[in-house]
This record gives sequence, C-alpha cells and structure tokens, in this order.
Amino acid sequence: MSFPKGFLWGGASAANQYEGGYNEGGKGLATADLISGGSHLTSRKITKNVQGNLLYPSHEATDFYHHYKEDIALFAEAGFKAFRLSINWSRIFPNGNDEQPNEEGLQFYDNVFDECRKHDIEPVVTIAHFDVPAYLSQNFNGWGSREVIDFYYRYAETIFKRYEKKVKYWITFNEINTATLTIGNFLALGLNVGDSDFVKQPDDMKLRYQALHHQFVASARVVKLAHDNYPQFEIGCMISYMPRYPFTCHPNDVLLAKQEENMHSKFCGDVQVQGKYPYYAHKYFKDNGFQVDITEEDKDILAQGKVDYYTFSYYLTLCVSADDAVEKNGNSMIGGSGVNNPYLEQTEWNAMIDPVGLRIALNDIYDRYELPLMIVENGIGVSEEIADDGKIYDDYRVEYLKKHIVEMEKAIEDGVDLIGYTIWSAVDIVSASTGEMKKRYGIVHVDKYDDGTGTLERRKKESFYWYKKVIETNGESLKD
Ligand code: BG6
Repeated sequence: MSFPKGFLWGGASAANQYEGGYNEGGKGLATADLISGGSHLTSRKITKNVQGNLLYPSHEATDFYHHYKEDIALFAEAGFKAFRLSINWSRIFPNGNDEQPNEEGLQFYDNVFDECRKHDIEPVVTIAHFDVPAYLSQNFNGWGSREVIDFYYRYAETIFKRYEKKVKYWITFNEINTATLTIGNFLALGLNVGDSDFVKQPDDMKLRYQALHHQFVASARVVKLAHDNYPQFEIGCMISYMPRYPFTCHPNDVLLAKQEENMHSKFCGDVQVQGKYPYYAHKYFKDNGFQVDITEEDKDILAQGKVDYYTFSYYLTLCVSADDAVEKNGNSMIGGSGVNNPYLEQTEWNAMIDPVGLRIALNDIYDRYELPLMIVENGIGVSEEIADDGKIYDDYRVEYLKKHIVEMEKAIEDGVDLIGYTIWSAVDIVSASTGEMKKRYGIVHVDKYDDGTGTLERRKKESFYWYKKVIETNGESLKD
C-alpha cells in the first residue's frame, strides 16, 4: 500500500455529540443543548429553554466527560495516531462574551490532551463544531452579529495560548458550508430561531450568508493569529464535501450539478484557501436578490488568513437533475436533496455509498488547491444489535471502511497529498441530524439508547480489531 510513513490514522468526534456533562465544571449552556432528540422520520425540536418533558441528547451524550481516560486508552489500543475532537466553547467561556475563561473547563481539555500525549496520539482540534454559547445566540443573534467575531477570537486566543505545546493541528469551524443549508441557521450559526422545528427552520438567506461571512472573517483572523504567533501550528478549514454527479449527460444536468457543487462543496473552501470570494458566489447572491456586506478590511483579512491544510468529511455523493419530472428523494445527510443513483446502494438513513466518489473528491480538491488534505470524517451509521455471544459483528462497517480506504490509497497513487484519516466515529455518539443513538457510527459500542437509558459501558466491535490491524500495518492488511 502507498500510505506514507507517519500517516495520521485515527477516529473523530464532536463535543456536543460525545462529551455530555452539559452543566458540569462551570460549563454554560450551548445551542446544541437546546436541540431535542428526534429520528429519521421525526424532526428534532429547537427550544428557547431546556424543557422538562423533552430529552436533549447532548446533555449526557456518551459521556466522554467522565470516560475520557477509558476511551483514550481504547484509542491507544486500536493504535490511533490521531484523535479528532472539538472544544466546547461554552465550557471555556460559559456565555461566550465573558472577560475571563473558566479554569475548570480549560483544565478538562488539559487532562484530555495530556492523556492523548501519554499514548502518542496527536489531537486534531476543532475550535467550533456545531455549538455556540446559547447566551450569544439569544442576546447577539449568534453569528448574525459581527461582535461575535471578537468573542470567537478571544476564545481561540485563549486556547491557542493554553494548549500551544499540546496541540499542533487545528480546524477553525466544522463543516462551515453547513451554513449554505437552511438547517445551518441554528446548527452552525446559532441564529436565534426561537422555538422551531430543526429541519424546517425559519430562513432569511441574506442573514444566513452574512453570518457565514462573519465566520469566514473570524476564521481568517484566527489563522493569521496562529501564523503570527505559533509557527508550529497547522490550521485548516473543514468542509462537508459531497460531489455532485449530473443525473444524465444532458448539458442542463451537467451545468446544474456544477453550480450546486460550486455553491455547496467548493464555495467555502475557495474562500478559506484562496482568501477571497469566488466569482460564482457573487452571481449566486445576485440571482437570489441579496448582497453580503463585505468591507475592505474584511477583504484584507480574508487574504491574510489562508489555511495551511484542507480537511473534509465524506459520506456520500448526490445525483443532480434539472428535469422537474425526475423525483428528488431527499437523499442526503443533513438537508439538501438529490436523485437516487441507480448504480449505488444506500445506508438505512439514505446516504448513497460511494467509495469511488471519495477518490474523485480527493483528486478534485487537490487539483484545485494543492494543499495537504485530511479526511476527518467518514463512516456508516447503522442500527445494530449485540449478538448472544456479546459481540457486535459489524462486517458492513468493515466493508464500508475497507472500500473507502482502498480508494484513498488509489488517490495517493494518483499523486494526492493525503496526510490523515479519522473515521466517524471512534466511539458511538449522538447523530447530529436526527439526535438518535440508534444511528451508530463507532468502532466502540456504548450502552446508551434513544430514550436516554443505558449504563454507558464501552464494548469493542469487530471493526475495532480490523481497524487496529489496518493501522498496525499502515494499510498493508487490506491486501489480505
Ligand atoms: C457531519 C458532522 O455532518 O456528519 C457530524 O460533522 C455528524 O457532526 C456527521 O455527526 C454524521 O451525520 P449524522 O447526522 O448522521 O450524525
């Protein structure tokens, strides 16, 4: 196999879906703590306050807060070289705009990073992964306000300084392009949508793109902060990358696929890597009847805050048809829609399984930017049972991961500079889109269920042993 020496094999997570301890250690309430559980068929609910009759999966999640030592020991046993996690902003600044950080929160991540270092595991840290301090959402309209840029900057400044010797790889925002979807209003931008359905949130497109612009500026300022003060850091963007295929070779399908891929999968990476808005975005805003307020100062900072490496999540591809008569079945992870691809199978949650699409994505991205790439999420959500012998035979996960890793290897042979791969997810965690535990992604099972019950006991799945072998042999075992 062609995986380079030092390739960062590992697993990924996000605080709001994994950590729990939502009101412990001085942590403030986050937007994620106000989204109830749901399912594939029933949307999650966003509430202004925590309501006693609803279950909020982030509150306990799978309790990394109290299990971090045990979990990191499991990662070490699997041979992880890297562990991707996010810092919960409201654990460090409970309201988001506090003058002083919460020492207990800072100490928690010190403990986590020390534990990783003890096992030679490189932490890959997302500064904001789908959570905003609820106070900022309710009093500043989240990222809708320019002031939030300064609060985020102070937060990043604090954690950079604190963890400068413990963390090298940083990511400014998880799947920043989620803001191109309606669902991003609350999930990614923390806009104050009030009591709302999670899937059908009230949407003001101009505000949504303005809020996204504030995130671009915040990201660029923080990248510049890192470049000026911490030359040892690598600081990247993170994009939910979903290649779009034209459903037919009709030029209208080809054109629409390209336009959708531009505005969903390419736009944000273009801004963060190239330091300016791409030409097609201006046209898109104009066609939709609005303009984003971009100052000259903003342009300067975007140009000065170009990321060092490009990370992305990869789960599926979409087929695009310009023909109204063709059924769009909503095939996607979070929001979006697409046409069924007759050549591919789908998961229980309607994600098209497309390993070759990963090779296509890797080549497209590398061709565009020529930056080191890292796949920081890839995996399959499945409802699964423990067998009578106590084991979890997740051969479908092994099959899924294997096929994707083989395509990664081919992309490396194509010449792509791929530096790491962290599967989604290391341990079972709450689903971001549906709030379910049932949609399990981990190679470690957690005894936790949709009704909030469970002992939180950890159990290695069969895929755990398989992945351990892959890492141990730097991919050679895939030939077996
Ligand atoms: C990505 C997110 O969208 O996909 C994760 O970065 C999320 O937070 C993952 O969990 C899988 O999606 P879902 O909705 O199945 O959890």
